[in-house]
Amino acid sequence: MTTSHEISRAVACLVFMALSVCSAAGAPNYDESKVGNYTLPDPLVLQNGEPVRDAETWYKQRRPEIVHLYETNIHGRSPGRPEGMTFDVIDVDNHALGGKAVRKQVVVNFTGKKDGPKMNMLIYLPADAKQPVPLFLCLNFFANHRICDDPGVKINEEWDRKIMAKVLPDEKTRGTFKGWQIDKILSRGYGIAIIYYCDIEPDSIGGMQYGVRPLFFKPGQLGPAPDEWGAIGAWAWGLSRGLDYLESDKDVDAKRVVAVGHSRLGKTVLWAGAQDTRFAMVIASCSGEMGGSLSRRNYGETVDDMIRNFPYQFCTNFQKYAKHWDEMPVDSHMLISLIAPRPLYLNTGSEDQWADPKGEFLAAVAAGPVYRLLGKQGLDTDQMPPLDTPIMHTLGFQCHTGKHEILPEDWDRFLNFADMHLKNRN
Ligand code: GCU
Repeated sequence: MTTSHEISRAVACLVFMALSVCSAAGAPNYDESKVGNYTLPDPLVLQNGEPVRDAETWYKQRRPEIVHLYETNIHGRSPGRPEGMTFDVIDVDNHALGGKAVRKQVVVNFTGKKDGPKMNMLIYLPADAKQPVPLFLCLNFFANHRICDDPGVKINEEWDRKIMAKVLPDEKTRGTFKGWQIDKILSRGYGIAIIYYCDIEPDSIGGMQYGVRPLFFKPGQLGPAPDEWGAIGAWAWGLSRGLDYLESDKDVDAKRVVAVGHSRLGKTVLWAGAQDTRFAMVIASCSGEMGGSLSRRNYGETVDDMIRNFPYQFCTNFQKYAKHWDEMPVDSHMLISLIAPRPLYLNTGSEDQWADPKGEFLAAVAAGPVYRLLGKQGLDTDQMPPLDTPIMHTLGFQCHTGKHEILPEDWDRFLNFADMHLKNRN
């Protein structure tokens, strides 16, 4: 006879087994021997099968082909600079941060209307600069007033991702995120500009309606077409609008602007740098899946995870690659190639296996032939360097000891890399 106790134990076992199967199905792989075999598309072969043998064929044919493949399949097409966009310089303080900096605050009115959609830029320039300075343009997870204690910075509203509502300006959050190493950057002769990414589009499945994408809908259009931009496309577009402003600022050398972003914003700066060749350099930190790391490797986060958790960040066409990663006509080495011949630094972390640091390294290796074709040095090795030992050529790579973050000492390396490529250039 079966007792009720035995029945409930059997039910409990079944539930446990079902849960185990579910979690096993979704469990990320962290075993190199299970990464799988894959063949990367060759960045130096045209879609008609012809090899790319010279820089001219790269720039005139292959590069546009790859941009188009990314637009059609991954990030979607983005519009250009909107007509009528205006910049309001709402604040200039020549003695900010105890006299070390010139502070500017700029409102970018996307439609030119002051009560329309806008983003806020916070800029610090070295006070002792004798000529226009090179600058790091950083996309930030938090509103600008969080990055330092400067009482002159306007407190802005932020978006709460869970409830999709704005959090009202709050003095208490001033200076609560100090990751950008402003003092270090200024003391090395660079400026820094910050943009809060949710000013461009809030980061959530329901965020699109509050962001810039609907501004470009045709009459009657309710959502982006399958090959139109996702949220990463929108954030990258916002960075380019920031660069539009910087081009108009005589204190900044807009030909030496570095786009910097971490994590999903690392994915964003790669796409921004790929499309907008005005960015002189890109620093992508822990950008991971659909950023710097190879999607065809089954390691850490996968294309399927991205499609399940972050569908709004990409164009709708991307969804067809769930479980069909091999059918993508691109992989991240091609995104990296689009930045060539400009310098790109990939920062990764030993405890950030979800983002697959080795996959980022291998992508940079696979982009090497494009850099070489254009007369530059790729990583020039296929051996992953030891931890905390950066490789710095035109492509740069490092894996720091630590987590999914930009460490203060990473900034020393970013600055060294920028010095190598931008310091003595006019
Ligand atoms: C998640 C996501 C990553 C992303 C990261 C971030 O971990 O899975 O793809 O890079 O968030 O943006 O912080």
